[in-house]
Amino acid sequence: MDLTGKRILVVGGAGFIGSHVVDRLLKTQVAEVVVYDSLVRGSLRNLAEASADPRLTVLDDHPDIRDFDRLSAAMTGVDGVFNLAAIGIVASNESPEDAFTINVTGNWNVFRAAARAGVRKIVHSSSASVYGQPQIVPMTEEHPYHNRTLYGANKIAAEHLLLACGELDPLEWAALRYFNVYGPRQDSKGAYTSVLHKVLDRLEAGEPPVIFGDGSQMMDFVHVTDVAKANVRAMESDVASGFFNVCSGVGTTIREVVAMLSRLTGIHIEPEYREAAIPANLVTKRIGGPDKSADLLSFSTGVSLEDGLRSLVEWRERSRATASAGR
Ligand SMILES: NC(=O)c1ccc[n+]([C@@H]2O[C@H](COP(=O)([O-])OP(=O)(O)OC[C@H]3O[C@@H](n4cnc5c(N)ncnc54)[C@H](O)[C@@H]3O)[C@@H](O)[C@H]2O)c1
Repeated sequence: MDLTGKRILVVGGAGFIGSHVVDRLLKTQVAEVVVYDSLVRGSLRNLAEASADPRLTVLDDHPDIRDFDRLSAAMTGVDGVFNLAAIGIVASNESPEDAFTINVTGNWNVFRAAARAGVRKIVHSSSASVYGQPQIVPMTEEHPYHNRTLYGANKIAAEHLLLACGELDPLEWAALRYFNVYGPRQDSKGAYTSVLHKVLDRLEAGEPPVIFGDGSQMMDFVHVTDVAKANVRAMESDVASGFFNVCSGVGTTIREVVAMLSRLTGIHIEPEYREAAIPANLVTKRIGGPDKSADLLSFSTGVSLEDGLRSLVEWRERSRATASAGR
């Protein structure tokens, strides 16, 4: 879809990734970007810069995706929808019922309301969690569902509800399976990349960063601005449907990340190794296959891990400075 003159709804647009999608959209020729977010987790602070653009509207009644009528009203006249609203792995374990009503029923509401309103395309946020522990690396989109978490189960369900929705109505769709997303505006509560905040907190406090196990756990880091780029590419693409990895294709160990963060901050303290307290269902080796997204969406990552981590370190410094100036 050519975004010129289009009206776009970003569900979950005040969150970490959603706010970067909004920033990226506002660099195109869209006519209007509307954010639909209950603010249960995101923040209007994430949209502070974007708010200067008159094409951005943030629905100010904190609308929830569990409210089908409210969603339907918001879909009127919308050409494309980005769906990022969900609760994460940790919150899903803490509140399994909320996880189901938001990540499955709520997401279904988004798909159905969009289809009924005649929205042309949905770009949906899925997750590499659908794969679980790798049977083979890199994990391509053909990798079996080997998930063992509630969050991943709900993500699998939502992917298939979206697919089914596209069969019932003439709705184009893309479900993007993000790997380990990191960067400015990320919070410190995630199951995987919160390790970056924890390591930086310890280094800045003059304490040794803690590595659980031997530090060989591997993640496929993808910078949040690259994830936003993948979202917009998926909306612009002529491909009518499909599941797509959003990954770098490169695995990085926790040991390597800690060394990189030490170098970037200039704080060199030997890490402390502790007995592994890693839950059995947490994936310890994650490397995605990037080829399908490269071929069909013309998407590949552009931010190196070193530059991406630097952007996180700098954002933390700016946030601290803003917080202490406001005191
Ligand atoms: N961050 C990652 O590493 C990662 C990895 C894989 C997949 N994902 C998926 O990407 C999407 C965005 O993740 P994120 O990290 O930006 O999370 P986030 O929590 O920062 O953003 C989600 C947004 O959705 C909103 N929201 C939640 N429940 C809602 C509801 N019931 N009604 C309306 N709004 C609601 C929240 O307020 C928040 O602003 C999610 O679907 C997540 O599962 C994230």
